[in-house]
Amino acid sequence: MRIFVTGASGWIGSAVVPELIGAGHEAVGLARSDTSAQRLEAAGAIVHRGDLDDPEALAKAAADSDGVIHLAFQHELAFGGNFAAAAAADRRAVEAMGNALADSDRPFVLASGMIGLTAGRVATENDGLVASPEIRANPAGRRAATALLALSLRGIGVRSSVLRFAPTVHGDGDNGFIATLVGIARQRGVAGYVGDGANRWPAVHRSDAARLARLAVEAAPAGSVLHAAGDEGVPFRQIAEAMGRHLDIPTMSVAPQDAAEHFGFLGHFAGLDSPVSAAITRDLLGWEPTGPSLLDDLAQGHYYR
Ligand SMILES: NC(=O)c1ccc[n+]([C@@H]2O[C@H](COP(=O)([O-])OP(=O)(O)OC[C@H]3O[C@@H](n4cnc5c(N)ncnc54)[C@H](OP(=O)(O)O)[C@@H]3O)[C@@H](O)[C@H]2O)c1
Repeated sequence: MRIFVTGASGWIGSAVVPELIGAGHEAVGLARSDTSAQRLEAAGAIVHRGDLDDPEALAKAAADSDGVIHLAFQHELAFGGNFAAAAAADRRAVEAMGNALADSDRPFVLASGMIGLTAGRVATENDGLVASPEIRANPAGRRAATALLALSLRGIGVRSSVLRFAPTVHGDGDNGFIATLVGIARQRGVAGYVGDGANRWPAVHRSDAARLARLAVEAAPAGSVLHAAGDEGVPFRQIAEAMGRHLDIPTMSVAPQDAAEHFGFLGHFAGLDSPVSAAITRDLLGWEPTGPSLLDDLAQGHYYR
């Protein structure tokens, strides 16, 4: 298959590209800069120059493909304080690519998240499928609404699926939440957790996340929701303890009211209890995570370089 991958130069996308090529597919990667284009070429992908803010160009690339994996998201804009603008651009991109694939039964895989889907209860793939007040109240609610839009594309003849990634897609080279937490711990001289730290975070190794993206584009039935979670819930205190051990600093409980001050933009997420199940995904696609667990990965040392 010729697969158009947006976000192909990103953390997950740069593992998805070799995963696709290794399975005999052609990967066409969206690149918005020379640097990203060079990175994609070096990885063996075909480069499609364009930007998330140019839905027409995205639609053309989607129409020229046998399927799309949409991973790009304007994180800089979102974490820079304009989440609404990033989410709106994403929605326009999904609409454009979805319409380009109409009446073809071609696959469209949308990246999404899973943190905060349910409060304290194990979330399954069947949760978060209605735009409930809880979803709307969640900061990621606008993206959840786009995920529902993507699922509805099955109604116009697209084999669409939503791939919810664990909040930490970890591995050597990760620059995301776990690397940020290591940086905060190092800077503060303590590895913090909120309250008693029993709240759980799901996690998945990047290699397993990439394999699931490939399986999704190859075979996920229309309307599937998939959970990329190898660890279904790691107690946050154990994450902090692993960091404390490696940085040789103490661990410390942070009161919930001080979480925003201590963890910055991660203050909202650090105390969330967000366990998930990936059982439906495993059964549906025969996906078996084989990469290291988050705690094993934290023990390998690369996060502290
Ligand atoms: N990583 C995680 O732990 C995690 C967890 C849950 C969900 N997700 C979701 O999974 C997806 C992939 O995440 P990631 O960690 O791989 O993200 P990432 O490393 O931040 O990569 C983002 C990608 O989007 C591209 N991009 C950003 N703005 C663009 C624009 N205006 N036009 C074209 N391309 C643009 C970037 O291109 P450049 O290379 O040119 O910057 C990059 O390829 C995202 O939707 C993310 O929200 C990730």
